[in-house]
Amino acid sequence: MNILVCGGAGYIGAHMCMQLAASGHGVFVFDNLSTGHAEAVRWGELIQGDLTVTGDLDRAFKRQNYSAVMHFSAKSLVGESMLHPELYYHNNVTGTLNLLDAMVRHDVKALIFSSSASVYGTPAYSPIDEQHPKAPINPYGRSKLMVETMLADFDAAFGVRSVSLRYFNAAGADPGGVIGEDHDTETHLIPNVLKSVLQPEAHSLRIFGNDYDTPDGTCIRDYIHVVDLCGAHMKALDYLLQGGKTEAFNLGNGKGFSVLDVINAAQKVTGQDINYSIQARRLGDPAVLVASSTKAKSTLGWTPKYTDLNKIIETAWRWHRTQHA
Ligand SMILES: NC(=O)c1ccc[n+]([C@@H]2O[C@H](COP(=O)([O-])OP(=O)(O)OC[C@H]3O[C@@H](n4cnc5c(N)ncnc54)[C@H](O)[C@@H]3O)[C@@H](O)[C@H]2O)c1
Repeated sequence: MNILVCGGAGYIGAHMCMQLAASGHGVFVFDNLSTGHAEAVRWGELIQGDLTVTGDLDRAFKRQNYSAVMHFSAKSLVGESMLHPELYYHNNVTGTLNLLDAMVRHDVKALIFSSSASVYGTPAYSPIDEQHPKAPINPYGRSKLMVETMLADFDAAFGVRSVSLRYFNAAGADPGGVIGEDHDTETHLIPNVLKSVLQPEAHSLRIFGNDYDTPDGTCIRDYIHVVDLCGAHMKALDYLLQGGKTEAFNLGNGKGFSVLDVINAAQKVTGQDINYSIQARRLGDPAVLVASSTKAKSTLGWTPKYTDLNKIIETAWRWHRTQHA
């Protein structure tokens, strides 16, 4: 099958292309390279274009007949979204609306969308299941929820069926070390910890708050390995192509790890002492964010394989070390 991978030059999208190609699919990447990298497009053709430009999308859809679209493209920096909401609604919401319009025009009726735990906002209970109230607390999260709402409407009106996968914290890298997480502005904990080991002078590690109501006082998050995320997309693709209905699923490891757990595991994996400073809490950071992925397991038959924190960090470390060398 031919799959159009929007955002396939980015961190998760590139890992997806690798898995799709390994399963024998034709891979076509649509990306504007705003945060992605042309060098990461190694398992398919790059169609350079922007979701906000209708002509670019028509060019991509005329290139090939696609069985489905996987949509990873987004701006995804929470802090930036609070300062510049207009960029987030334009790129993430208008861009996706253009994509959906193009899918209808070109008769492609299956979409897998990268949603986010941010659609839930501050947790009312833990672990978070899909029934949890959706009350995002920043424009990034609201842009994801708006897209999910549009997806339901496009199914009702045009029969575009979709799966929204609400990722918790994506982490790790291809275990072979070929690709990994390469964001110019890095906000994710694990790469920041590893960068502080490799380049302590350029990357000082800061922890935001150690007075939360958690066992060690630091925030607890659910780290899900990028290879497991992509595995869930493969299952979602089968689900949609077998006629599955429009649905949303959480994707998490089900285990929470604190910031200090991550630092201790990274010390073990790298064999280095890790220095950090404690800063004030960031606005809007909940103490604990952990997913219930029971629905993805029972409906899609998905099981994460990289549930061990050391293993997740080992794969990321292999990639970061190669990059540094
Ligand atoms: N990384 C995480 O922990 C995480 C967690 C929850 C949800 N997500 C979502 O998963 C998706 C992928 O995340 P990532 O970490 O790989 O991000 P990324 O920034 O590495 O990848 C996004 C890709 O989309 C492309 N892109 C952005 N806007 C575009 C546009 N208008 N037209 C064409 N291409 C465009 C970028 O160039 C980039 O290649 C995003 O939608 C993100 O919001 C990520």
